[in-house]
Amino acid sequence: MEVILAEHAGFCFGVQRAVDTVYQQIENSEKKGRPIYTFGPIIHNEEVVSDLQRRGVRVLDSLAAAGRVSEEERGTVIIRSHGVEKIVCENLKELGFEVVDATCPFVKRIHNIVEKESAAGKSIVIVGNEGHPEVEGIRGWSESATYIVGAVEEARNLVSRPGEELCIVSQTTFNYKKFQDVVEIFAERGYNGSVVNTVCNATEVRQAEARELAARVDVMIVIGGNHSSNTRKLYEICRQECEMTYYIQTLDDLHLRLPESVRLVGITAGASTPNNIIEEVQNYVRINF
Ligand code: F3S
Repeated sequence: MEVILAEHAGFCFGVQRAVDTVYQQIENSEKKGRPIYTFGPIIHNEEVVSDLQRRGVRVLDSLAAAGRVSEEERGTVIIRSHGVEKIVCENLKELGFEVVDATCPFVKRIHNIVEKESAAGKSIVIVGNEGHPEVEGIRGWSESATYIVGAVEEARNLVSRPGEELCIVSQTTFNYKKFQDVVEIFAERGYNGSVVNTVCNATEVRQAEARELAARVDVMIVIGGNHSSNTRKLYEICRQECEMTYYIQTLDDLHLRLPESVRLVGITAGASTPNNIIEEVQNYVRINF
C-alpha cells in the first residue's frame, strides 16, 4: 500500500510562526522569570495546548481574566495568529503586561487596511463568519460602521446608507468562491468603494491539494482538532471526492480496517495540526497496512 502525504498538510506559515513564538518566549522566560500567557489558546489543537500548559504557559480567555491576574504575575501575553481587536492590545499594556504580537502578517495586513480605510471615512464590510475570533479582531480595528457578511443573501439584504463608501475585505480562511459571489452582489447593487481580496492563499492551496489527492486515492485521512473549522472544511472537500474519508484528531482515533482492495491512502491535515501527529499517523499507516 502506498501512502501519500499532501505537501501542504498541517501548520500554515502564520500558525507555525505563532507556535514558534510561544516556544521562544518560554526560553526567554527562563532568563526573565516572568509568566507567559497566550490570549486564547494559541491554536485549535489540544495536544499542543496541553504541551504548553505543562511548560507553564497559561491561557487568558478575556480581558476580564487578564484583569484578575495579580500585578506581580502580569508577565508576557502572546497574541495568536488570528489577531485581536486594537483595544485588547492597548488594555493589556495598560494592565502592565508585555504584549508579544504573533498575529499572522496576512491578518495584520487586514487590520492595517481596515484602520486606514475606516479612518478615511469608508464603512467596512468583512466577508466572514460573525463571531469568529479573527473577524471580531478585524472589526476591532475599524473606526467606522462595520458590516459582517457571511453569505450572498446577507449581502443582498444589507441596508447601507445612501452614498456610503465601502471597503470590502474578507476573513483569511473564507472560501474564495463565496467571497467572489458576495462581491458580485455588491457590484450588481452598484456599491461605491473598494474590494481587497484578503483570502489567504494557504487555505486555497491546502484545499485544492486535498481535493486533488482525495480524488485519486482509495482512502483519505484528514487530521485535525475537533473545533478546527478549516479541518472540518478539508474533511467535507475530501468526502465529496472519496467516500472512505476519515476525520481523526490523533493516531488514537484511527481504528481502520481497510478492505484488501485499498492500494492508495492519502493524508492531509488542518492548519493547526502539528507535524509530529501527522508523522505518527503516516508511519503507522505505512507499517500497519
Ligand atoms: Fe496566516 Fe493564512 Fe495561516 S492568514 S494564519 S498563513 S491561514
